[in-house]
Amino acid sequence: MRTGIDGLGLAVPSLCIDLETLAKARGVAPAKYLDGLGTWRMGIAPIDEDTVTLAARAGHMALESTGTKEDDIGLLIVGTETAVDHSKPVASFVQGLLGIGRNCRVFETKHACYGGTAGLMMALDWIRSGSARGKKALVVCSDIARYGLKTAGEPTQGAGAVALVVSENPRLVELDPSQSGQYAIDVHDFWRPLYSKDAHVDGHYSVQCYLDALSGAYRHFQQLVPGVRASDCAALAYHVPYGKMARKAHRQVRAMDGDENPDASFDVQVGASLVLPAQVGNIYTGSLYLALASLLATSVKNLDGQQLGLFSYGSGSCAEFFVGTVVPGAQERVHALGLQAMLDRRRVLSFDEYEQVMKAREELDVRPVEQAVADDFRFLGVDSHRRTYVSPEA
Ligand code: CAA
Repeated sequence: MRTGIDGLGLAVPSLCIDLETLAKARGVAPAKYLDGLGTWRMGIAPIDEDTVTLAARAGHMALESTGTKEDDIGLLIVGTETAVDHSKPVASFVQGLLGIGRNCRVFETKHACYGGTAGLMMALDWIRSGSARGKKALVVCSDIARYGLKTAGEPTQGAGAVALVVSENPRLVELDPSQSGQYAIDVHDFWRPLYSKDAHVDGHYSVQCYLDALSGAYRHFQQLVPGVRASDCAALAYHVPYGKMARKAHRQVRAMDGDENPDASFDVQVGASLVLPAQVGNIYTGSLYLALASLLATSVKNLDGQQLGLFSYGSGSCAEFFVGTVVPGAQERVHALGLQAMLDRRRVLSFDEYEQVMKAREELDVRPVEQAVADDFRFLGVDSHRRTYVSPEA
């Protein structure tokens, strides 16, 4: 059975800030953020956008672009580490906003940035086991990455969602979940206590944990799938908290393959996967899949039938290295989605506006309900402890 990603949708918030602006305001050399971290713009969500609205928007686009009807979905998973409720899953809000049918398994997965990959692997196994009975899965990765003002993590924030339609006979990337290596270890590199809106991170340690997990997952992959090497893949996409992290990851994987000059292959194998992430920042669960979308949308190489290597990392931690095959025509399909144009439509904030939005977001969970023009999926506020949303169709 051929299984994999049939189509995708992307949502980014309507606002963003240039990291050059942030650097100047923080008294940091802009080159540190632009070159040192490898990100030049990051997404900022206004107060009527949250993890739910981003997930719904990305999910809507994925369904539309694949011609998938709401009742074709038998499994709806939202991977997130910035959920809006301790009990009710983001997936239930998304089900309601998208009108997904009722005979469907609907839930949320959490394992830091790995939550979306956990959902994707589960969806592939669900289809291959026969339990799907012809239905498709919608796996949405949605997050708002927030570290707080004036912290070292501040320039590595971001926000966005990537939705994947997972099915038989996929039209983008074929995936076999057995072609995958995993690595998990209990570490305290990055976390967000229940009482905190901001993530806490042991920054430099988290970088080392990412690299250790990459080694562990790739070693496991090599044991399970002998003969397939990252170095032989046409392209590689890594979890991208910031672009430089992908460079460090690539260096390590190529070195494990015995390459003495691992940087030489970086632009060819990885460059295209960083074009969109560099303009969005870290979107946590969706980060790897934004890198994949970027690769398919911007690579000048013909990837038809070519093998890709993919690496997912979630702090805490769990990691997975897996491979997939690009389905002929996938690049044209993703190109037609107009992802760069979507990023270009965002409004670029001044530094003062950025600080105002970040402060306003602290009160989001008690924001009184406001009426809004129903031109998109919007968060209206909270009424009797219930979050209220509107969808464009309503
Ligand atoms: N010009 C060019 N480069 C410069 C520079 C300049 N003027 N000044 C500094 N740099 C370079 C540094 O040399 C460094 O590059 P290398 O890593 O190649 O040495 C880079 O810019 C960053 O500099 P610092 O390490 O000094 O930066 P920092 O201490 O302020 O913090 C950080 C960097 C630890 C990544 C911090 O932003 C952070 O904590 N971010 C959040 C955590 C994170 O993203 N971790 C990633 C792994 S965990 C993960 O992936 C899960 C997840 O999504 C969170």
